[in-house]
Amino acid sequence: MATTELVNPFRQGLREDRATRPVQLVIFGASGDLTTRKLLPALYNLVQAELVPENFCVVGFARNEMTDDEYRATLRASVAKSGEVRVRDEHVVDDLAARTRYLSGTFDDAGAFARLRAVLDENDAKYGTDGNRIFYVSTPASLFGIIVEQLHNAGLTGGDGKASEKVRIIVEKPFGRDLASAKALNDEMLRYLGEDQIYRIDHYLGKETVQNILVLRFANGIFEPIWDRNYVDSVQITVAESLGIEGRGAFYEETGVVRDILQNHGMQLISLVGMEPPNSFDARDFRDEKVRVIEAIRPIDVKEAVRGQYGPGFVNGQPVAGYREEPNVSPASMVPTFAALRLFVDNWRWAGVPFYIRSGKRMPKRVTEIAIQFKAAPHLPFRKAQIEQAEGNVLALRIQPDEGVTLKLEAKVPGPSMRIRSVAMDFSYGATFGAEDASPYERLILDCMKGDQTLFDRADGVEAAWALVDPLLQAWDNDKSIAFPNYAAGSWGPKAAEELIQRDGRAWRLP
Ligand code: BG6
Repeated sequence: MATTELVNPFRQGLREDRATRPVQLVIFGASGDLTTRKLLPALYNLVQAELVPENFCVVGFARNEMTDDEYRATLRASVAKSGEVRVRDEHVVDDLAARTRYLSGTFDDAGAFARLRAVLDENDAKYGTDGNRIFYVSTPASLFGIIVEQLHNAGLTGGDGKASEKVRIIVEKPFGRDLASAKALNDEMLRYLGEDQIYRIDHYLGKETVQNILVLRFANGIFEPIWDRNYVDSVQITVAESLGIEGRGAFYEETGVVRDILQNHGMQLISLVGMEPPNSFDARDFRDEKVRVIEAIRPIDVKEAVRGQYGPGFVNGQPVAGYREEPNVSPASMVPTFAALRLFVDNWRWAGVPFYIRSGKRMPKRVTEIAIQFKAAPHLPFRKAQIEQAEGNVLALRIQPDEGVTLKLEAKVPGPSMRIRSVAMDFSYGATFGAEDASPYERLILDCMKGDQTLFDRADGVEAAWALVDPLLQAWDNDKSIAFPNYAAGSWGPKAAEELIQRDGRAWRLP
C-alpha cells in the first residue's frame, strides 16, 4: 500500500488534515447494526490514519447490559469483520479499545444520563478532552427528542441551558417520517441546541464521488456554460441495489424506498447536479444553494410517479424471496421497494428539463449513476452517414461502484464510408488515484470533529425534501389499488417505470 502512495503522484496530498481539538465521542445505539457495521470500523480507520485528535476517547451507550471489556470485544469483532477496514494493526485496535468505555441504560432513565455525565467528567480528567463532546445518535428518530432532553437535563448540552460550541450532536437519517414529524423533531432539538450544534448526517454526502460532482461542475470552466436547459435534454438518476432488505424487515415496513432513499440520498444528488455555483464551499453558502434546488422542484404529480414492490426472482443467478416473504414483513405489505419519478426544477436554469429518478431494491445490480443527456446536434451535415448506436452526448457520473466519469461522444468508425458510432471517454477513480475510498462515515465524523457542517443537512433542507415527498406518500397511502408485487427480483422494476420515460420518447439507460 505504501508503495502505491509513493509511485502515484495523484495520491500525493490526499491525506486530510487531522482534527486537533480534543474530544470524546459518545455513541447512542452503541450495539446497533450501524454502529457495528459502519461507525466502529470508521473510527478504527480514523485512529489508524492518525486523523483523530491525540486527546480522544469513546463511550458507547445502549440498552444491553455489557461490561467495558465485553464492549471492547464487540469493537474488535466489528473491526475484524469489516470489509472497510484497510490495514489491520493490532496496536491500533488495542489503543482504541483501551480508550473505549461502555454504559448501559435506557433513554428514559435520568439516572443513566447522570452516570454518563460522571463517566464523561472522569474521561475529561484522564484524557484532557476539556468538555468537548460529540454525541452520535444512532437510534431511531423517535428517540432523538428524548435523548436531547435528557442530555439537557443532565447538563450535557452546554452550560446553564445555553448552547455550547463544545457540544455537537450527530443524528442519523431518516430524520422524521414526514414533514410534520421532521418539523416537530427540529423543534424538539432546537429547544435545547443551536443549529450550529446539530449535524444531520446523510452518508451520501460523505462519498468521494458525490463530492466530485461539485468539483467536476465548479472547478472546470467547460461544463458550467452548457449546464442548463439550452444544452441539457434530460437528467437521469439511478440508485439501484441488488440487495434486498437484509434482515431489516421491521425497519423497512415503516420506511419504504421513498423515505429510505429518495427523500434523502436522491435529493442530495438532485441538488448537487441542479444547484447554482455557491460563492464558497462553506456551510452556509453551500447549503443555501442546495436547499434552493429542492424548493424549486415542482410538486410531484402522482401520475408521474411509479411505485413497485419486488416479488420472488433471481439476482446474480441465485433465487431470492419476494419482499412479502422476507422476515418481519407483512404478507400483504403495501410498502414500495421501488420508485421512479419525473421531476421538474422550476427555475431559469432548468425550466422544462425532466429529471428522471429511480431507485429500487433487488435490481439486477448495484449501481448509482447520474447521467446528463445533452441535446442532439441541431443538424447533421453527413448526408450519407450510417449512424450506428448513436446515444448522443451523455456525461455519466458513476457514483458507485466502478467510480468515475464517462463522456459519450459520436465518432467516425475507421473505414472508407462515413459511419458514426458512440464512443466513451473514461475517467476511472481507482485507476487514476489508486486510492481506496475512505468510508463516508470517516469523512463525516472527521468533519464534525473539525466543526465543519458543510456536508450535513440543515433543518430547512430536510424540511424542504419532506415537503416535496410528503404529498406523494399520502397519495400512495390512500390509493391501495396497486397490485403488488409488480416486479420480479432481478429486474429493473415494474413496466410502468419504462412507460413513464417512454411517454417522453426516452428510455432508461442501462447503467
Ligand atoms: C441507507 C439505506 O441509507 O443507504 C439502505 O437505509 C441502503 O437501505 C443504503 O442500502 C445504501 O447505501 P450505499 O452507501 O450502499 O449506497
